[in-house]
Amino acid sequence: MANFSKDFLWGGATAANQVEGGYAQGGKGLSVTDIQTAGSYEAPRYLTYVLDGKRQKIASVPGQGLPHGAKGEVFEDEYYPNHEAIDFYHRYKEDIKLFADMGFKVYRLSIAWTRIFPNGDETKPNQEGLDFYRRVFEELKKYNIEPLVTISHYEDPLGLSEKYGDWQDRKMIDEYEKYARVLFNEYKGLVKYWLTFNEINSAVMFLDFGDNGTDEAYQHAYQKLHYQFVASARAVKAAHEIDPNYVVGNMICGIISYPGTTDPKDQLANRHALEKNLYYCGDVQAKGKYPTYAKRLWNEHNVHLDITEQDKQDLMDGKVDMYTFSYYMSSLVTTHEPEEKVGGNFSMGAKNPYLNYSEWGWATDADGLELYLEEIYDRYELPIMVVENGLGAVDKLEDGTVHDDYRIDYLRQHIEAMDKAVGNGVDLRGYTTWGCIDCVSAGTGQMSKRYGFIYVDRDDNGNGSLDRLPKDSFYWYKKVIATNGDDL
Ligand code: BG6
Repeated sequence: MANFSKDFLWGGATAANQVEGGYAQGGKGLSVTDIQTAGSYEAPRYLTYVLDGKRQKIASVPGQGLPHGAKGEVFEDEYYPNHEAIDFYHRYKEDIKLFADMGFKVYRLSIAWTRIFPNGDETKPNQEGLDFYRRVFEELKKYNIEPLVTISHYEDPLGLSEKYGDWQDRKMIDEYEKYARVLFNEYKGLVKYWLTFNEINSAVMFLDFGDNGTDEAYQHAYQKLHYQFVASARAVKAAHEIDPNYVVGNMICGIISYPGTTDPKDQLANRHALEKNLYYCGDVQAKGKYPTYAKRLWNEHNVHLDITEQDKQDLMDGKVDMYTFSYYMSSLVTTHEPEEKVGGNFSMGAKNPYLNYSEWGWATDADGLELYLEEIYDRYELPIMVVENGLGAVDKLEDGTVHDDYRIDYLRQHIEAMDKAVGNGVDLRGYTTWGCIDCVSAGTGQMSKRYGFIYVDRDDNGNGSLDRLPKDSFYWYKKVIATNGDDL
């Protein structure tokens, strides 16, 4: 018998900008993802904009804002995969029905901030946007699927990003709180679970890639994070005021790391990497204050932050109710020249000889999930949800379906790891696999990096019927849910 509780929340996850499309419909304004072009394993995605009167673009990672002074712009000769995505905006009923067929108990989705506040700084919300999500939540309710709603999933309004320099102004805190309050009031009774910022730690974590790790970049990232921490804390407080039944979580990108060798220097380097990449954000959001090592992290990059006494109070008053994270892979940290390096997007540093790597260079490591769950539960003693996990792979359509045993294997191993962690006492409440329906990849903008139980007929250039087809994993996951994790 598996260890999952009888009310364990099984389901899947997506984000507005990666599934909805309809990027300029229903009064929606532009978000940062709307000016993101398509990339691939080899080539980055770009943000397109005008700066100093000239058309320009910059290689981007998920969540990145515009360079200072830039004005985001959509150019006709560029392809922006998120503009139509998989057209969930018009097909949500069909998709939710398929989720219900699998037996989903929970569906994690995000709200596009720019459907509610098109530019971000309006005083009144856009009714059409509010109505759209109401219809989605009501549809979910029909099937007893609990929504788990990310308030901000890499989709800042372009208007705010331009005006406030990608979270470099504390006015962003008020804009975010205004937006969150509208949601909490509007969807009272329809939604119970909220997440404040998707993968909030990516602001510092992704600085490790390329040559971005300048003191200036760290100053920007830590200041952005501080304002987001306060915004998140104020949202938690507002949620509890508006409905004491609301459960609000943080969301961390859970790329755990190990020391690459037995050299004590590697042990130390890995500890410091974990502090910077994972614990810094988790500690502030779950414990309500900055950890002691924060000073070291700031000093390493000569960072000086705008933190007020009121901010500190807000952080303490707005601790999250649950800890949630995405989990795809692990990485190695070493002070030595690695024997072999990992290629691919967002996979870091040295290659781990004990693990297999996906086509995009992500290391499959189910033991790492058990380790992380046990570590985090011990550290915070909060309920946990794994809100993203899955294998991005190229799928082959054969006889109208996809035989994705590789995906089933990956998910099976990770569910087994969760089961062990629960058996060892971890209070794990739910599991939402990433991209339960194929969608646009956040990192590369590709459709061909597929995670879904449901195949969507669309290619990397925007061709295809958008028809939905259940894969083998669809029927497998249905059985997993029906047996509460017993039959894997
Ligand atoms: C997480 C994000 O980083 O990983 C998702 O929250 C994203 O938005 C997912 O899609 C998988 O990454 P990718 O780059 O394969 O889409």
